[in-house]
Amino acid sequence: MRTDPLPSPAPSSTEVASPWPTQPYFVREVPIWPPVVLAPMEGVTDLTFRRLIRQIGGAGLTCTEFLPSEGLRQTGGQRGRIAWTAQFDDDERPISVQIYGKRPEGMAEAARIVEAMGATIVDINMGCPSKKVCSNSGGSSLMADMGLAIEIVRAVRAAVRVPLTVKMRSGFDHSARNAPELAWRCQEEGVDAVTIHWRTRADLYGGQRAVDKIAEARARLSIPVIGNGDVIDVDSARRMFADTGCAGVMVGRGAMRDPWTLLQIQRAIEGKPAVQLGAAEKERVLLGFLADLQARFLRESGALGRFKKVCSHFVRGLPFGEEALRGPLLRAESAAEAADHARRYFAHLAAWEAGDPEAMRPLLPAGPPEPPQANTDDEALAGAEAC
Ligand SMILES: Cc1cc2nc3c(=O)[nH]c(=O)nc-3n(C[C@H](O)[C@H](O)[C@H](O)COP(=O)(O)O)c2cc1C
Repeated sequence: MRTDPLPSPAPSSTEVASPWPTQPYFVREVPIWPPVVLAPMEGVTDLTFRRLIRQIGGAGLTCTEFLPSEGLRQTGGQRGRIAWTAQFDDDERPISVQIYGKRPEGMAEAARIVEAMGATIVDINMGCPSKKVCSNSGGSSLMADMGLAIEIVRAVRAAVRVPLTVKMRSGFDHSARNAPELAWRCQEEGVDAVTIHWRTRADLYGGQRAVDKIAEARARLSIPVIGNGDVIDVDSARRMFADTGCAGVMVGRGAMRDPWTLLQIQRAIEGKPAVQLGAAEKERVLLGFLADLQARFLRESGALGRFKKVCSHFVRGLPFGEEALRGPLLRAESAAEAADHARRYFAHLAAWEAGDPEAMRPLLPAGPPEPPQANTDDEALAGAEAC
C-alpha cells in the first residue's frame, strides 16, 4: 500500500496566473513603478510630449530621444540644439537620457556630460536602424559588431556612476538574432537593465511578432529585461508580460495614438477599471499640448510641425478621427487654425457621444473615402531619420 502523500491536484484549467507584475523593477537602486516606460522617440518625446504623458500618468520612467555623442561633446550651436533636446524638468524623475555613437571614448565623454546634466539613468542606443545612426556604426549596427558594442559599454560603465541601460533590437537581421547574448554580455559589463524591441534591424517596422528573444533574455539574465514593440493597449501589454515574463513594457507609437495608453496599462496592472474619457477631456489635453508647444518653440512653424506629427497618430485613436479631423489638422497653416479645427471636431464628437447619431455627419467627406495617407512611421523610416 502506498504511504507517500498524494500529489496535490493540478490547478484548475480556469485558474490562469495573472501575468501582471506586482512589484516595481529596479534599475540598480532606482525603482520603476508602474513598470511601464515611455519609449525614446526622436522628434517626438521632447520635454513637451513627456510633460503631456506625465500629466496624464502611467509612465514609471520617461526617456529623452537619442542624443549624438559627438554632438554633445561639441561647443556652440549644435551643442545648444542638443542641450535643448535633452532638457527635462527638475521633477521629472526618474529620467533616462539616451546617447548613441560608435567611439568608446566619445560615448564615455558624452555619458559624463549627461550624468552632469542630472540624468537618473544613461541609456545606450543599440537599436536604431536609421541610416543617419547606422552609417556612423552606432545604433543597431552595433548588434553586428559585438566587440565594439562591448567596448562602448565598458567605456561608458567606467565613466559614470549612475545606472546604465542598453536598448537594442532582437538582432541585426534574422540570421543573427543575438539579443540574448548581447544582453548577457552587457550584464556582465555592469549594465543594470536592457530593453529589447522584438523586431530585428532588417524588419524596420514590419515583420511578424516574435517575442521569443525577449523571453530568452529574460530567462538568462538577472537584470530586468523590458519588452518593447507594438505594446499599444492593455491587451498587448498583458501579452508582452505573459509571453516573455519581462519586468516592464515600453510604449512608443501607442502613446502618440492614445496618450492615455500608459495610464490604462498601469490601471490594469493595479487591478483598477479603465478610465473612461470623453470628448471634452481629450480636447482639453490636446489643446493644452498645443499651447505648451507654442510656449516651447520659438517659431510657430516648429510648434505646428511637432503638433501635426503627434496628431497624425492621435487622430487614429479618435472616433471618426481619420475622416473628420486628420485632413483639416494636417492642412492647418497656423496653430490657431489647428486649434479651431480641433474645437469644431470635439464639439461634434461631444454631441455624437451624447447620443445624436448624425452629429458627425457635417465633418465627414461626402464622396468616397480618401485613400489612406502614408503612415508617418513609414515616411520617417523611408527618410531614414527615425529609429
Ligand atoms: C518617430 C520615432 C522615433 C524614434 N526615436 C528613437 C530614439 O531616439 N531612440 C530609440 O532608442 N528608439 C527610437 N525609436 C524606437 C522606439 O523607441 C521603439 O523602440 C519602437 O517604436 C517600437 O516600439 P512601439 O511599437 O511601441 O512604437 C523611435 C521610434 C519612432 C516611431
